[in-house]
Amino acid sequence: MCGIIGYIGHEPTAEIVDILLDGLQRLEYRGYDSAGIAIMTEQGLEIQREVGKLSNLVRKTANLDISSRAGLGHTRWATHGRPTEYNAHPHTDGQRQIVVVHNGIIENYLDLKQELKAEGHSFVSETDTEIIAHLIEYYYQGDLKAAVQQTLKRLEGAYSIVVMHAKEPNYLVAAKTSSPLLLGQGQGANFIASDIPAILRHTRDIIYLEDGEMAVVTPDKLEIFRIDGTPVERPIQHIDWNLVAAEKMGFDHFMLKEIHEQPTAFAQTLAGRLSENSQRIFLDELNLSDEKLQSIQRIVIVACGTAYYSGMVGRYLIEQLARVPVEVELASEFRYRDPILDEKTLVIAISQSGETADTLTAIKLAKQQGSPTLGIINVKGSAITRVTDGTLYIHAGPEIAVASTKAFMAMLAAVYLLALHLGQVRGHVDQSALSDHARELRRLPRLMEETLSKVEGRVQEVATRLLRYHHSLYLARGINFPIALEGALKLKEISYIHAEGYAAGELKHGPIALIDPLMPVIAVMTESAAYEKVFSNLQEVRAREGLVFAVATEGDERVNEVADEVIHVPAVPELFSPVINVLPLQLLAYYVALRRGYDVDQPRNLAKSVTVE
Ligand code: G6P
Repeated sequence: MCGIIGYIGHEPTAEIVDILLDGLQRLEYRGYDSAGIAIMTEQGLEIQREVGKLSNLVRKTANLDISSRAGLGHTRWATHGRPTEYNAHPHTDGQRQIVVVHNGIIENYLDLKQELKAEGHSFVSETDTEIIAHLIEYYYQGDLKAAVQQTLKRLEGAYSIVVMHAKEPNYLVAAKTSSPLLLGQGQGANFIASDIPAILRHTRDIIYLEDGEMAVVTPDKLEIFRIDGTPVERPIQHIDWNLVAAEKMGFDHFMLKEIHEQPTAFAQTLAGRLSENSQRIFLDELNLSDEKLQSIQRIVIVACGTAYYSGMVGRYLIEQLARVPVEVELASEFRYRDPILDEKTLVIAISQSGETADTLTAIKLAKQQGSPTLGIINVKGSAITRVTDGTLYIHAGPEIAVASTKAFMAMLAAVYLLALHLGQVRGHVDQSALSDHARELRRLPRLMEETLSKVEGRVQEVATRLLRYHHSLYLARGINFPIALEGALKLKEISYIHAEGYAAGELKHGPIALIDPLMPVIAVMTESAAYEKVFSNLQEVRAREGLVFAVATEGDERVNEVADEVIHVPAVPELFSPVINVLPLQLLAYYVALRRGYDVDQPRNLAKSVTVE
């Protein structure tokens, strides 16, 4: 939530506005209700802010002709204070000398505001961030680093900040607790950013800041300290993502591009982990010995949003293939209960960003209680990976669209691998079963490609019918129940149509009361042991004049008896069917949102990385 960029170079550059805006554009998925930049000039600070999408700020600054060595930028997802221009970042002190961008929430800001008001400070925004700028002003005695240090000791809550002072143009100060922040080492210039894509154009050499750390960044040096001033040595990490992967590549939207990247994402997750002869699964990065995995008595998966649904698929797989009981928990609930954990319970965090606040706290809690921990994560070096005993990277590449698709697919690949590995280590998957499953897994990327090309046109026709409704119900059973939930989440996230996912067996326990001609049902009913059951559920829907759209297996004509529209997908064993079945549902959400004229990549009110509770 909220995206930050900071730049400081040796020589003044006329590119400064572009560098900041380009960085913000690549962070816009983090928040897009307003944006702003501050640039150091000989005359003082040039600050430009604008409400709404970044494109508004781009227009506003189009004629800004500045050459400068340093600047900050921010894209906002409002927490304290409405999305107005005066609440947009950067914020300044009373003298407009100190400028701050901030991601997070300062919990004691009202107390601090009172205190500063009593000292004669007056405020122009409703934000917690403005307090930081004034507090730095209060402590400032000619040394920005020292004033920031004193300020940080007063702040409670979550923050990552970057600060610049008009009188000390040679360095930027950054600090973080909870919210993410990283430093980038460029050629003749250095960077600070919330996330890697913002600076990928300039460098792939980065250092993540840890909680309770601050940094002084000059054009030559990245110096890290604890807030008490103790120096920290940390090596630079090289990131192998390339910029092309973070571009649209001719697709109209990142979401559509990422939907089409799923076969590759799935294959990348498998790469190097399934032996050529399918005799073994290589998951050394788990950092958990076979003995440890054999001693596990229970698994708890914690996650949020789409990642949570991949965990639900994981439960079916792990229980079926490895015979270990699995619970899947919303991280935001888990962290506030008093969960029963011990060294025989493996706790797994699944997260694309690796920085979702609730998932991070949940996994820290598990670690404190002595449970072995594992992350299934996309972003290299992200916060969760720095906590867990092992990390199974999903290697999906940068995911930019707010609605997650390819990360979900890569998460599925990771849970297949994990379930098979556990099954093998614990003696429930023998050599021949492993070979069979491995063959299916390897076949899936090609089958996904085939599915995407076969269903896209048909999905567009179905989307045309669905787009006029205000409500919808997604139904499925078994391993496809989480796919119904994910399909419903995708639709509501980007098309704003109310969508609920339900286990089809629960239809009679409530949702059937909602069925009428205005409540379309989207059913996942590919070949499975539960096919007949879903079929009967849909007959019940039809008997109440409900409209049915079905995802069914190629060759299934009987489905026409209960469905008004059918999207046929290639046949695949039930265990692997979620990978195929989610594809038409993602495309359906995409085309409905597109036809309704919404911003698919940046849906209202959402942010891709939820770094506050
Ligand atoms: C937000 C995003 C979702 C994502 C969820 C969890 O809600 O909009 O797309 O599934 O966070 O994010 P994570 O990074 O932990 O997978």
